Amino acid sequence: MKSIILVGGKGTRLRPLTYETPKQMLPLVGVPMIESVLASLASYGVTDAVLSLGYLPERFTAAYPTNVIGGVRVTYAVEPAPLDTAGAIRFAASTARLDETFVVVNGDVLSDLDLSKLLAFHREHRAQATIALTPVEDPSRYGVVTVNEEGRVLAFVEKPPKDEAPSNLINAGVYLFEPSVVAHIDPTRPVSVERETFPELVRQGTLFALADEAYWLDTGTPQTYLRANVDVLRGARPASHFAGVVDGAWRHPSATIDPTAKVTNSVVDQNCVVGALVVLEDAVLLPGAVVQSECVIRSSIIGPEAVIGSGSVLGPTCVVGANEHVAPASQLSGDVRLGGV
Ligand code: GDD
Ligand code: MG
Repeated sequence: MKSIILVGGKGTRLRPLTYETPKQMLPLVGVPMIESVLASLASYGVTDAVLSLGYLPERFTAAYPTNVIGGVRVTYAVEPAPLDTAGAIRFAASTARLDETFVVVNGDVLSDLDLSKLLAFHREHRAQATIALTPVEDPSRYGVVTVNEEGRVLAFVEKPPKDEAPSNLINAGVYLFEPSVVAHIDPTRPVSVERETFPELVRQGTLFALADEAYWLDTGTPQTYLRANVDVLRGARPASHFAGVVDGAWRHPSATIDPTAKVTNSVVDQNCVVGALVVLEDAVLLPGAVVQSECVIRSSIIGPEAVIGSGSVLGPTCVVGANEHVAPASQLSGDVRLGGV
């Protein structure tokens, strides 16, 4: 089966990290997240993917010169200007000439959803499109879906006001599409699949949805990006195998960690340096980050080549951008972002 991976968003909620790295190229325990997304699709027999790009496309093309990611053959559909989600699907589907049922995924979603079950359900109901659903506590940040007993979608409401969500089942960002749906997407302007295409299919009664309780996470915020990493370290995703997690921590072989440092549920990536008596808890250090002695870093992301001066206390939840220098003995907590434009 073929697939379209939407990876053209600007990742605004993960700035400043996403000024230079698109969200799906940020590492999950040392490996770009896009590789996990595609490896998971490959495990269900997906052979081909069109990466639907617009923002920093060269970061993908340069990283994968052989055009294989996570065992899936990839081609690229680079939008001249952002087309929004449905516009992007149309553009990618016509670029790759998709003419059979295909999968669409939001590239920032990490999940162990059962794609075979979704496909069987889609065929059984002769749906035009089928959405995977996942239950969440606060649906207001997502596309909220109500279905009848046979799984036909009765309503799709994108990001409803808090407390007005009609259900706690949300759009998991994984869809099956018939090629015929694509022909109805206006090619002349940006179109949102969530705000236009799905509501239109609901009116026609041809949109179906199936809930799945498997692991699911949208990695689009600092909190959820950290959680994705910590979940892997804690073994909360049995389907994902990451080599080298020891005592709930992962360090790249090139990293230097002082033996007196205490590292818990944390990632220490390539060429990082962690000084004496440092405490790291639920932290992600991106390649080349330096944390000098006696710092305490909790639930925070330290960007590439950033330097945290000795004795500083950071988090939760600080995001330090690439090459930033934090002065020694700094105290930062709350939703702090350092660096960027
Ligand atoms: N190619 C392309 N072009 N991709 C885009 C564009 C665009 O113009 N706009 C967004 N994307 C990509 C993003 O890179 C991301 O992978 C995906 O589309 C979804 O965009 P987000 O910005 O992450 O949306 P969201 O997380 O607020 O909401 C979406 O995902 C939720 C599940 O995680 C919606 O689909 C919700 O309905 C859904 O519940
Ligand atoms: Mg998202």
